[in-house]
Amino acid sequence: MRKPKVLFVCLGNICRSPTAEAVFRHKANQAGLDVFIDSAGTGAWHAGELPDSRARAAGQARGYSFAGQSARAVIEEDFEDFDFILAMDRKNLKNLETLAPNHSRTKLALFLDYADNSPVAEVPDPYYGGPDGFEHVLDLIEAASDGLIMAITENYG
Ligand code: 4NP
Repeated sequence: MRKPKVLFVCLGNICRSPTAEAVFRHKANQAGLDVFIDSAGTGAWHAGELPDSRARAAGQARGYSFAGQSARAVIEEDFEDFDFILAMDRKNLKNLETLAPNHSRTKLALFLDYADNSPVAEVPDPYYGGPDGFEHVLDLIEAASDGLIMAITENYG
């Protein structure tokens, strides 16, 4: 079996998608799932930066590691390389749909589609809000990560 490759995508690649990368890597390890995981932004303003310090503080407090992460923008090759390209919100999904070649469209989805009984469909942008926003982001991402692990285990097992 080829190792599945998962790309998480938000706007800046400093808050939500790095958090998804950290949480999903931790949970996939715990589940013994061999996956390649990365994250990227539809925007390039923060390229080369570490994840946002508030996102790191909130995630690290729950035991997640952001080691080795640095922001980058989505590139054309991503649509060939990755099996799952999961957007944090509809706006980013729409941007991905515009960038993706037709044959790669089926790889695109909203990340929270994988969450069981999610209260919302999108992971809200926490950048201009307070600390509660980062906790909410983590709650949503933890639920979707559990669902994605189940989906990958069922389909790639
Ligand atoms: P992210 O959050 O998309 O979750 O990384 C944002 C980070 C930066 C900006 C917007 C959202 N920004 O406008 O710079």
